[in-house]
Amino acid sequence: MASQLLLPPNQFTKSAKVFFTGDCQGLSDLTLNRKLLQATRVSNGFSLRAKADLRSTNNKSLVEIPKQWYNLVADLSVKPPPPLHPKTFEPIKPEDLSHLFPNELIKQEATQERFIDIPEEVLEIYKLWRPTPLIRAKRLEKLLQTPARIYFKYEGGSPAGSHKPNTAVPQAYYNAKEGVKNVVTETGAGQWGSSLAFASSLFGLDCEVWQVANSYHTKPYRRLMMQTWGAKVHPSPSDLTEAGRRILESDPSSPGSLGIAISEAVEVAARNEDTKYCLGSVLNHVLLHQTIIGEECIQQMENFGETPDLIIGCTGGGSNFAGLSFPFIREKLKGKINPVIRAVEPSACPSLTKGVYAYDFGDTAGLTPLMKMHTLGHDFIPDPIHAGGLRYHGMAPLISHVYEQGFMEAISIPQIECFQGGSLLNRNSSDLNASIIFINF
Ligand SMILES: Cc1ncc(COP(=O)(O)O)c(C=O)c1O
Repeated sequence: MASQLLLPPNQFTKSAKVFFTGDCQGLSDLTLNRKLLQATRVSNGFSLRAKADLRSTNNKSLVEIPKQWYNLVADLSVKPPPPLHPKTFEPIKPEDLSHLFPNELIKQEATQERFIDIPEEVLEIYKLWRPTPLIRAKRLEKLLQTPARIYFKYEGGSPAGSHKPNTAVPQAYYNAKEGVKNVVTETGAGQWGSSLAFASSLFGLDCEVWQVANSYHTKPYRRLMMQTWGAKVHPSPSDLTEAGRRILESDPSSPGSLGIAISEAVEVAARNEDTKYCLGSVLNHVLLHQTIIGEECIQQMENFGETPDLIIGCTGGGSNFAGLSFPFIREKLKGKINPVIRAVEPSACPSLTKGVYAYDFGDTAGLTPLMKMHTLGHDFIPDPIHAGGLRYHGMAPLISHVYEQGFMEAISIPQIECFQGGSLLNRNSSDLNASIIFINF
């Protein structure tokens, strides 16, 4: 987006060198070129970052962008339980979802195919920030005095600054292709809302976002990003929907929750013919789109000559974690590798580690199908901790299933401990964005 460019076009010449403070293998001597200007931006309103050109000759992160997303369901001998219609308790049919999603996404939600081709138009946009670097955190290793080799897959170079555009772009693409005019969604901290706002602007869609009130008021920069990309943003609960008004009546100063914000967006999609709903995590098609992270990573690990022993990712609804780990689980199922795969969730919202595995609604008002997942209850209101995006009452049904099958483990961590770890990494390697870490002992 031209509006994101903060440096005049001549600021970086073809031969400019950038030296990162982190002693990161493959990133210490990167040549920037004009292409990076497409991705130069302000993120969170705080830091100016540049997307480095990965074409330096010895860069092991340089791999082809995968041409297909991977669907783990195809390789599971025990299939996950289906979503149920909330009135009949029968498995839902595609037509039950057609008021919310375009046909292609409904198909992807239920597909048993192993690989799904990524449309050319989506690949073209992915090229703005993909492949994303796999960075070895050597200084962090030294500081921790560990013999482990630690890598993180850096998804912060996307225009919105996180992994979320990996799915926002195809979601906007399929909606636009099927003639939808408006998309509506929820957001917590604003990463997802800003990603959908960005993707909508590329495909000429109007975008309306309900942002959890606590984050709306404490994180104005994300709101500004969404508005800059042309989205309308409302604090949730709002008086614009039945669901929001009901919450406000019982608690006028409700801090909101992702479940409430989803109810508001779903309600608006359901009552407007030309409007569809987009979700930033949890659903199968969202996890599917995020597998581009893991597919890329597998190639990069091969370039580095490494096999992971431990794969860690933060989990809110589960999309970045699934995106990274599912392709590795495929390799694990084939018996090629045997890493420990560990989800890390906030102890303020510990759905996997403390929730029950049961059918529950995806939203507070009970407007969505029932999904079998680890849940804290659809009316759960989390403490207003900083990490807004990680405070969802349920875990993705597919992750919940994989967890039940014993293919992964989970822990929960309080936010202060998390920030301490984040600042250690930040001071010694890179930044605080959804960092996905491999550890090799
Ligand atoms: C930067 C970032 N990381 C992680 C998450 C957690 O979501 P998920 O578990 O779907 O990746 C979010 C959620 O909004 C996010 O914005």
